[in-house]
Amino acid sequence: YPIFAQQGYENPREATGRIVCANCHLANKPVDIEVPQAVLPDTVFEAVVRIPYDMQVKQVLANGKRGALNVGAVIILPEGFELAPPDRISPEIKEKIGNLSFQRYRPTKKNILVVGPVPGQKYSEISFPILSPDPAITRDVHFLKYPIYVGGNRGRGQIYPDGSKSNNNVYNATAEGIVSKIIRKEKGGYEITILNASDGREVIDIIPPGPELFVSEGESIKLDQPLTSNPNVGGFGQGDAEIVLQDPLRVQGLLFFLASVILAQIFLVLKKKQFEKVQLSEMNF
Ligand code: HEM
Repeated sequence: YPIFAQQGYENPREATGRIVCANCHLANKPVDIEVPQAVLPDTVFEAVVRIPYDMQVKQVLANGKRGALNVGAVIILPEGFELAPPDRISPEIKEKIGNLSFQRYRPTKKNILVVGPVPGQKYSEISFPILSPDPAITRDVHFLKYPIYVGGNRGRGQIYPDGSKSNNNVYNATAEGIVSKIIRKEKGGYEITILNASDGREVIDIIPPGPELFVSEGESIKLDQPLTSNPNVGGFGQGDAEIVLQDPLRVQGLLFFLASVILAQIFLVLKKKQFEKVQLSEMNF
C-alpha cells in the first residue's frame, strides 16, 4: 500500500531512480504516463497514468480466498507543481477523476502525490489534476524542461513492512529430504514435514492459505525447491515523462518572429515585381 511506502521511506524515489514500491511489489508489470508536451504557468493539466492488466484474473487475498485486484500509484512532480485545487478543475477532468482522493506523500511536500488502493476494474486509468507553478510568483521555479516520475501497481505485495512474506508468494522447501507428512489446516494452508533421511532431522514448513500445493507425501525434494505455485498475478512498474514549463512571452515572441518573416518575404517578392516593371520600362528596342 502507498501508506507502507510513506511510513518506511522519506523519499519514494531512491538515488538509483527506483521507486520504493518495487521493494515489496517484486513482480514487474508495465505502466504508462501521458502528460502534455508543454504547459503555461498557473495552468491546470492532466497527467494520465495507465496501469493495464487482465481484468478477468483474480488474485489470492490475505485470507486465501480469491478476489479482484486493486491499483495504486505515486507521482513525483517537479518542485513547484502540485495537486490542482478543486475549484480550478474543469468538469471534464472532474468526471475522469471520479471519487479518487489524492494524498500528498509527505504533508510538507506538495509535489509528490499518492493514490490507492482503489478498485482496478474502475481505475486502471488514473487522471491526476495538476497545477503548474508561476515563476513570477514562485521565485525558485524557472521556465525549463522537467522530468515527471510515476510508479503504478496492481495486486498485492510480496513483503510486509515488518519483513514477513505475504501469502502472495511462492513457498520453497527450507530443507532437503522426503515429504513425510502434509497436514491440511482447518482455515486453509498446510504444514509440510520434511524428513532428512541421512540425519533423521525433521523440518516443518508452514504454508498459509492461498498458494496451491505442488508436492505430495512421499516425494523427495531438494533445498529451495518450490512447494507451491506462484499465486501472484499483479506487479509494479515505473516510468517517466518530460514536460516543458513554457513562458507565454516566448510563444508570443516566436509567433511575432514568424509573422515578420512571412511579411518580409512578401515584401521582397513585391519589390522584385516592382523592379521588373522598372526594368521593362527601361528597355529600348
Ligand atoms: C498491497 C500499491 C508500496 C507491501 C497494495 C495494494 C496496492 C499497493 C494498490 C493493494 C493491492 C490489492 O489489494 O490488489 C502500492 C504502491 C506503493 C506500495 C503504489 C508505493 C507507493 C508498498 C511497500 C510495501 C508494500 C513499500 C512493503 C513495505 C504491500 C503488501 C500488500 C500491498 C504486503 C498486500 C497487503 C495485503 O493484502 O495483505 N500495495 N504499494 N507496498 N502492498 Fe503495496
